[in-house]
Amino acid sequence: MKTYLITGGAGFIGANYIHYLMKNKQNIQIINLDNLEYSGNPENLKEVEELSHYRFLKGDICDRELVCQLFHEAEIDYVVHFAAMTHVDRSIESARPFIHSNIEGTLTLLEAALEAWETDGQFPGSKKFLYVSTDEVYGDLRAEGYFTEDTPIAPRNPYSASKASAEMLVRAFGETHGLPYHITRCSNNYGPYQFPEKLIPLLIHNCLRHAELPIYGDGQNIRDWLYVEDHCSAIEAVLKRGKPGAVYNIGGHNEKTTLEIAEIIVDYIHDHHDPAVTRDLIRYVADRKGHDRRYAIDPRKTREELFWKPSVTFETGIIKTIQWYLENTEWLSHVVSGEYLEYYERHYGSKTKPDAIYNVPYKVDTLRRRVPCL
Ligand code: TYD
Repeated sequence: MKTYLITGGAGFIGANYIHYLMKNKQNIQIINLDNLEYSGNPENLKEVEELSHYRFLKGDICDRELVCQLFHEAEIDYVVHFAAMTHVDRSIESARPFIHSNIEGTLTLLEAALEAWETDGQFPGSKKFLYVSTDEVYGDLRAEGYFTEDTPIAPRNPYSASKASAEMLVRAFGETHGLPYHITRCSNNYGPYQFPEKLIPLLIHNCLRHAELPIYGDGQNIRDWLYVEDHCSAIEAVLKRGKPGAVYNIGGHNEKTTLEIAEIIVDYIHDHHDPAVTRDLIRYVADRKGHDRRYAIDPRKTREELFWKPSVTFETGIIKTIQWYLENTEWLSHVVSGEYLEYYERHYGSKTKPDAIYNVPYKVDTLRRRVPCL
């Protein structure tokens, strides 16, 4: 019987990972430590909350007393550390909370794991600390090439800098104290339960309420998209077969521009759900500061060493995702209230008209200062 401590398990990827474990693994215990800040949502886990091998603990990874007590009371085998502030735009607005949660929170977990697991410089073979990082730590790619695990770390925004810093701490605890760890760097995820501040759920949500679809800059920034369940299976493969102290890239070679994503979503909703949703909703807005142009993962090492490969193509995954949001409008309406409204107005309400007009068949416009239909 393995006991998993999952941090941030009420967030998007964490919740999907818990569902994945419940579906695919037997004889495990799960402890979910989550502070339920704006993007963590207990509704994401309502199907599992009554299960006897699942325990939810509301708390902050920066709370040293709580985290140490947890490690002493529970025989934790695996830490799978998702908890983080993750939205680049919010980190541009205010970096400090990212430093606190993402770096200090990771340090707190590392210290607690070290204290609970180490005896005379030795760690029991069953213990593993897996840090869920991101391809964004590599920084920006131009048109050519891919990130490999050996690409130098060069984060370019406060969010990715905080993730890179936390990685360095994990590595330092491994090198200095021998703490058994793995680091995973995944490309952009999409799927159910993603908070609608990120591109794909934001576009779906705006289509459903006939609001404009804000596309930063020229819409040609590229991201490499992976269906969240494939990320979950990769994490399991790393825990099972990963080499101690190794970094693994996770991705599925699904590069798409922002504009392509918007078109796919609009067209699907237009054809299958609501003919009133058309490409006319697409609006170019002022670009993100320091906007990374392209991310693209080379996942060869993970495929070859761990025998992992993605099972969901983008074409299938995006339809599953849109359908999930169409079927879960109640979930959506709960999460887009309160803090979300304030964030949306603060961030998008002030976006100004970009200087250039792009050579694409859409109107260049500013997003309305107010979003009355919210
Ligand atoms: P996002 O989902 O924020 O992920 P990340 O920046 O971490 O990759 O954004 C994905 C891409 O979509 C990125 O190039 C920025 C762009 N984007 C928009 O064009 N409009 C938006 O409203 C958002 C949120 C993102």
